[in-house]
Formats: sequence, C-alpha cells, structure tokens
Amino acid sequence: MPCLDVASPFFTFDQLHNFPALTPPARLAVIGDPISHSKSPQMHNPALQACGIDAQYVRVQVPVGKVKEAFALFAAQGFLGVNITIPHKFEALDAVDVVDPLARQLGAVNTLAIRDGRLFGYNTDGPGFLRSVKEAFGVEVKDLRVLILGAGGGAGRAVAVQSVLAGCRHLLLANRTESKLSPLMAELRSLTQDAVDLQTCTLEHAAIASHLSEIDLIVNATSVGMKVEDAPLLPASSLESRHLVYDMVYRASGPTDLIQQATAAGARHADGMCLLLHQGAISFEHWFGGSAPLEAMRQGLLAAARSS
Ligand code: ATR
Repeated sequence: MPCLDVASPFFTFDQLHNFPALTPPARLAVIGDPISHSKSPQMHNPALQACGIDAQYVRVQVPVGKVKEAFALFAAQGFLGVNITIPHKFEALDAVDVVDPLARQLGAVNTLAIRDGRLFGYNTDGPGFLRSVKEAFGVEVKDLRVLILGAGGGAGRAVAVQSVLAGCRHLLLANRTESKLSPLMAELRSLTQDAVDLQTCTLEHAAIASHLSEIDLIVNATSVGMKVEDAPLLPASSLESRHLVYDMVYRASGPTDLIQQATAAGARHADGMCLLLHQGAISFEHWFGGSAPLEAMRQGLLAAARSS
C-alpha cells in the first residue's frame, strides 16, 4: 500500500515483489536510499498527464546491493523506466544489459529504459547540464570559459567530461583537495585531439579570485550551499555582472549564498532545480521519444518547491 500521499506514492523494495495495482498503473519510478524527499514524481506525473499517457511515476526505496534485483522486478512488473539517484548510480552501471556510451564515459547510470525486457542504461547528468545552461543563459557551454568548483567530485567530473565532449576548450578545475584533479586532467586530455586549456586550483578564495577575470561560467558542483550555515564559496564582491553562475545545489529554504552573490552582482544565475528539470526531460525522452512537455514538468516542480 502507498505510504505517502497519492500524488507521489512511496514504496519499499519488498513491495516490488508484489506491486500493488494502482490507477493509473505504476510504470515509472525513481529509486534511491533515502528517496522520500524526491520531487521527481511531482515533475513526471504532470508530464504523463499532459501527454495523455495512462501511467504514473512512483518512488521506491531500494537498499544498496539490491539494484540489479530491483531492475529485474521492475521489468517483471511491466515498468517502462526508472530514474536512479544517490547512492545507486554506480551500482546501476553494472546492473543493465546495454550501457549507453556516454553513461560509460561518465561512469554512472541514472536513467533506465526497459524495452522488450532489455535494460538500457543512460546518464542525463551531462546532457542535462548542457541543456540547462543553454536555456538559462542562451549560450552553448562550448563557447564559454568554465570554472568548475568541486571538479574532483562525481557531479563535477560529469560536468567537466561533458563540457570537453561538447567542445569547451577552456576549463578551470577547482577542488578543495587539489590532488583529486590529476586523474581527471589526464582523462579530459584523452577525450579530444584539440588543444584544451586546462588549469587547476584549490578552493582557497585567493586562488579563485585570481582567475575570475578569465572565466565566463562558474559552476558549483560541490555540496557547499546545501546548509544555510555553509561558508561562502567565492570571496565577497568577486563576481561581475557578466559572469554566469550555475549552482547545482538547490536549497528549498531559499537561495544559496552563491546565488545571493550572483544576484547582488547583477549576474545571471541558475540552480539545481533547472538541472533537475532538464535531466527529467531527457529521461522522459528516453522512455517515450519525441520532446518532453517541459512546461508541465516545470510547473509541477515549482508547485512541489512551493509546498516543501
Ligand atoms: P557528488 O558525487 O555528489 O559530486 P562527492 O563525490 O562526494 O559528491 O563530491 C563532493 C564534492 O564536494 C567534492 O569535490 C568535495 O571536495 P573534496 O574532493 O575535497 O572532498 C566537495 N566538497 C564537499 N564538502 C566541501 C566543503 N565543505 N568545502 C569544499 N568542498 C567540499
């Protein structure tokens, strides 16, 4: 039986063995652990309705080590697809039949499409980043000089790899632990024959400040900003109005410090909600083809944000 509200039902792994009959039938899901906070149903269910698809999207809590079994159960229950979130993106890579080349390159699967019982794994992190930058700022990542704060983490690596694959030729990789950047540098250089201006620095304010005049797009891929008390990532008054600021963090309680700094500088900005929207749209397209109903998804997400 659903444990939460009907608009976004929540199930446990054990319930996958004998999934309850819902109206509309459950055909899509997001898995993670924890998962009860996920806003994905509030984005995908309006999209399904807008397209007249007789299906609903649910949340399922799946423990570590159970992803492959969960995928088999989803397939047996007639599901069409699944989104995969923390901590399962790496386990999912080994739990599908066919890994999309980009997902292989990014080292993680966050979208499953089930077609004729076969499991196809995709990654929407990188493409979602490119699309959301284009929508938010009207420019292509390839034409920008990009600073990635937290490039040594999983999200930062995905942004860096996708940026180079998309043709970006100026990247500054910043990480609190700078030594984590060496393998990424080698990997990025192997992705293209073109000359790429790759630099690294720490997250020290002085180091970042010395580079900002040569940067167009600043991406926060660290987890800094999730908590209100987090220290500022950038030195005070270091942003200019020409900067584009992309904070992958979304904080329901209000704008992050980075977004507040961007606003104060008159700089354009986007946050993690924008990424979630475009990742969701790309998943939807893997499942159903064509273009996703972006406005229905956006309104669903905004409503979910207002009610959280
Ligand atoms: P994800 O896969 O979601 O990106 P992750 O791999 O744990 O998560 O990466 C988190 C990123 O945030 C890393 O770049 C991490 O820096 P370190 O590599 O030095 O650990 C960064 N990060 C987390 N907390 C931070 C903090 N308080 N200050 C600066 N960077 C931080």
